[in-house]
Amino acid sequence: LFLVTAFIALPCYLFLLWTDGLLTTYNCIEAENLCYAEPSCNTSYQILVNCQPSDNRLLHLGREARRECKHAEQVLHNNSMYKCKCQRGMKSEEHCLKVFWTVHSFLTHGYDDVLASPYDGSTSVHSGTAEYNRLAALVSEVFKKGKSDSESNRCLHAAQVCSVDERCLSFRTEYVATCTKRSANNEICNRRKCHKNLRRFFDSVPKQFSQRLLFCFCQDVTCGERRRQTIVPKCSFEEEEKPSCLNLLDSCRKDNICRSRLADFHKNCQYSPKSVNGCLEENRAACLMSYTGLIGTAMTPNYVSNCSLELSLWCTCEGSGNFPEECEKILNLFTNNICL
Ligand SMILES: *[C@@H]1O[C@H](CO)[C@@H](O)[C@H](O)[C@H]1NC(C)=O
Ligand SMILES: *[C@@H]1O[C@H](CO)[C@@H](O)[C@H](O)[C@H]1NC(C)=O
Ligand SMILES: *[C@@H]1O[C@H](CO)[C@@H](O)[C@H](O)[C@H]1NC(C)=O
Repeated sequence: LFLVTAFIALPCYLFLLWTDGLLTTYNCIEAENLCYAEPSCNTSYQILVNCQPSDNRLLHLGREARRECKHAEQVLHNNSMYKCKCQRGMKSEEHCLKVFWTVHSFLTHGYDDVLASPYDGSTSVHSGTAEYNRLAALVSEVFKKGKSDSESNRCLHAAQVCSVDERCLSFRTEYVATCTKRSANNEICNRRKCHKNLRRFFDSVPKQFSQRLLFCFCQDVTCGERRRQTIVPKCSFEEEEKPSCLNLLDSCRKDNICRSRLADFHKNCQYSPKSVNGCLEENRAACLMSYTGLIGTAMTPNYVSNCSLELSLWCTCEGSGNFPEECEKILNLFTNNICL
């Protein structure tokens, strides 16, 4: 009986896996094109496109309109489009994300009651372990002769390895140049461009290279300072005054890239006291990946100083008015997050 059951159940199970896999393979741009071609999907999708809030217009949609929007989303819920995903750094990422949030805007609200990330967790770049190890050995060999301090300063070592890899070097040079260049109207830099190039670096360079620069191990402040400076905080992170974290969150939600990176961070770095490594998703590597995804958005995190691993956003909860708890919640995603 067991065997018979197994023989019947197994193909069903495989079939489910297969169809599930099939549903998740679409990226949202492909899914959108398929939807256009299917009248019932197209109709609901067009309704949803018109439901999109510009700022808080959502609140001003009439009851009837809201009902219609909600219904359209329910119809799409049954379509494979609902499961579409995007990849960080993909071509037309912003378009892809726009489709995702169009389809997901009504049944889910805000960022913290959705454990839904638009990103599928895969990246177009491989991790680069073998290359990193090969180049790291080479660098150690060269510097042994020159008696450098790169052994004691692992952040320096990581930077040296980066500079012998063509891709790492070129993307790093690019963001450093942008983030240190005074802008035309003599502001400290063009932050928007700096952020864009930082995202390009973390989205395009194999993570062995980029993450070792950012998460290098330090025993003294010189090393710690180098680590803190990795993302050129003067341009990418700090401002004259710390804004309220709630304002930061607000501007993040209005930007599809930031909103998506934050949803991804929230999904993968959610703290759970029950799990072994502190992460709800039990996957710290995924959490670190999501963390680097936030660098180059309104919610860019960084080390708070050169003598600890403490991380934070550049914002404050002082004077956060009627919502001190919501504000602390945002800060605590970084400051007291054991998963991270
Ligand atoms: C999809 O719907 C819109 C609006 O209802 C319509 O203008 C468009 O022609 C439709 N697209 C296709 C491919 O049918
Ligand atoms: C979605 O599919 C489920 C199950 O097949 C069905 O019960 C439900 O009515 C469908 N919803 C819509 C809005 O079509
Ligand atoms: C470490 O940070 C402090 C405070 O910002 C600064 O004064 C000091 O120069 C830094 N140390 C190094 C080695 O850069």
